[in-house]
Amino acid sequence: MKQLLKTLTETFGPSGYEDEVRKVILKEVKSLADEIHVDALGNLIVRKKPAKNSKNPKKIMLAAHMDEIGVVASHIDRNGFIRFTNVGGTFGKYTLGARVRFMNGVIGVVGYDRFENMDSTLPINKMYIDVGAKSKADCPVKVGDFGAFERSFVEMGNRLVAKSLDDRSGVLVLIETLRSIKSSANDLYFVFTTQEEVGVRGVGSAAYYINPDIGLAVDVAPTGDTPASLKMAIELGKGPCVKIRDLGMLSDLRIVNWMIQTAEKAKIPYQREVLLVGSTDARQIQISRAGVMAGALSIPCRYVHSASEMIDVDDLKNSIKLLTAMVSKNILF
Ligand code: CO
Ligand code: ZN
Repeated sequence: MKQLLKTLTETFGPSGYEDEVRKVILKEVKSLADEIHVDALGNLIVRKKPAKNSKNPKKIMLAAHMDEIGVVASHIDRNGFIRFTNVGGTFGKYTLGARVRFMNGVIGVVGYDRFENMDSTLPINKMYIDVGAKSKADCPVKVGDFGAFERSFVEMGNRLVAKSLDDRSGVLVLIETLRSIKSSANDLYFVFTTQEEVGVRGVGSAAYYINPDIGLAVDVAPTGDTPASLKMAIELGKGPCVKIRDLGMLSDLRIVNWMIQTAEKAKIPYQREVLLVGSTDARQIQISRAGVMAGALSIPCRYVHSASEMIDVDDLKNSIKLLTAMVSKNILF
């Protein structure tokens, strides 16, 4: 499991450029799926049909996004320095000093124009990427080339650190849930979505195609457990989060209750999530077609959108357990 997470997080995949990530996932799910479909936006839709004798199967769509935040080159100056803009929530404070890899494999480091006040905020339009070029002609990156953070996966005891744990950890939870389900009472669609980080753009077409009864996103949620962090009731290692509210959606109460009751019955620890910032794919599933009952399971994650995001192994294992228990049995609402 950790080896697969290492491979997933070390794979390049900013929004719109999810091909390499999809290849890694396809290799894992090929032998487990009844049907596989890739749509025009690049969403990977993996179906596991209900057991033959199951009565009243519900169509359940599970979504985790393949893409990660990144950068895109917007100008190259005469000395070969690259100006760039954000792809999704790429914050200045996490970007300065980072290493970036472009789609052609070129590595660059992020520098800053000039510091007048060391405590001031760090806008990325005052940053540039230095790929070691000496002139514009010599620069191996073109305007429009996408890049993403370059950072290796590290284990720190029970804690795992990597770039793009948002949302490759959700991708891993979906893959491992599919692997653990021998047979299900429901019609399951495991969807690996594109372009979440630029405003949940990919998932909508997949939701339209599937037309599910129930939609559930699996994504990360920031924690409130670091020194002087925002007062928020999410901690690393205390179990998967049952989303109740974020800035993009109010979870369906039936979904919230289903998640909590399943966790309590199976004695899986869980946390109640009221997120103060951000949203997920579930938001777009909820308002697709004529509307879908939707909610989300979140993996607690520190330093979200940095090159060193951190999760806990037990949260990962408990997320797989909870999701497996939820979707295997008949759903009575
Ligand atoms: Co994100
Ligand atoms: Zn995410």
